[in-house]
Amino acid sequence: MALVGTKKMFEMAYKGGYAIGAFNVNNMEITQGIVSAIAEEKAPLILQVSRGARSYASISYLKSIINVAVEEHPDIPIAIHLDHGDTFETCKQFVDDGFTSVMIDASKQAFDKNVEVTKKVVEYSHANGVVVEAELGQLGGIEEDVVGVDDISKHLADPEEAVEFVKLTGCDSLAVACGTSHGAYKFKSEPKLAFDVIEKIAAKLPGFPLVMHGSSSVLKEFKDLINKYGGDMPDAMGVPEAAISQAAKMAICKVNIDTDLRMALTAKIRQVFAEQPREFDPRKYLGPGREAIKDMVKHKLHVLGCAGKAAECM
Ligand code: G3H
Ligand code: 13P
Ligand code: ZN
Repeated sequence: MALVGTKKMFEMAYKGGYAIGAFNVNNMEITQGIVSAIAEEKAPLILQVSRGARSYASISYLKSIINVAVEEHPDIPIAIHLDHGDTFETCKQFVDDGFTSVMIDASKQAFDKNVEVTKKVVEYSHANGVVVEAELGQLGGIEEDVVGVDDISKHLADPEEAVEFVKLTGCDSLAVACGTSHGAYKFKSEPKLAFDVIEKIAAKLPGFPLVMHGSSSVLKEFKDLINKYGGDMPDAMGVPEAAISQAAKMAICKVNIDTDLRMALTAKIRQVFAEQPREFDPRKYLGPGREAIKDMVKHKLHVLGCAGKAAECM
């Protein structure tokens, strides 16, 4: 059984100057695409489930699909993680459901309140052998009720606060707002990340694993296919892969990717429908989508530097 927490993965990633890919899963095809990529590349893996994924597919279906992946690949360390848990109760439920890692995202709250709820989640999770990711600063995308994409630079994580936050909460890793945002429209002009924020936090918290959300690159191949076959995403823009590789060499040990999976699947489905308008067998369009996800994830594992690192993370 290779269902693991993230402690060893992050320790090795930090030392080795690479990052672990944390991929969001919503159904069987997405999971299979990701897992076949990591099996071929022998990479450690974090599969994450958002609240949206839970309400779409239910925990029992997603957990069962992930359990099959874990059983089929005993030589690959796989962590199963709650992405953006919003309350103590949500996190508790995922801990009780056998997740090995949870994220409490109380970053919308004031610092003291964020500390309070994170600490409570840490206490419960650690008592059950589960690690906790917390968040400081605010990203765009799903948190846009708080921060618009234009305002991101004003909401970066504060290095002084980060040290205090980690000390007060005992969290195991910290998602730091460093200029990324969720979704396919991350930048309006030149993409720019606040590497100085990552550096400053790393200098104050040596060895402590940081997490980068909103790390999809909006790959040209899929953007072009989507736009060619009836989609309308000309202004989509992601984080350049060179920036992801650079962050992975720093204290960023976990890199979250969802949008690139969605775009790969959507691009292939659009292509099949456009080229074969009489097709109506879901296997004939979900299959190519799954294959596109596999190829894309294989490529990402090299961008992150974690290909071939499965054994050392066991
Ligand atoms: O954090 C954002 C992920 O892309 C999950 O998005 O809540 O729509 O599943 P979702
Ligand atoms: P993207 O939208 O850039 O894929 O980010 C996903 C994410 O951060 C999930 O928590
Ligand atoms: Zn996120």
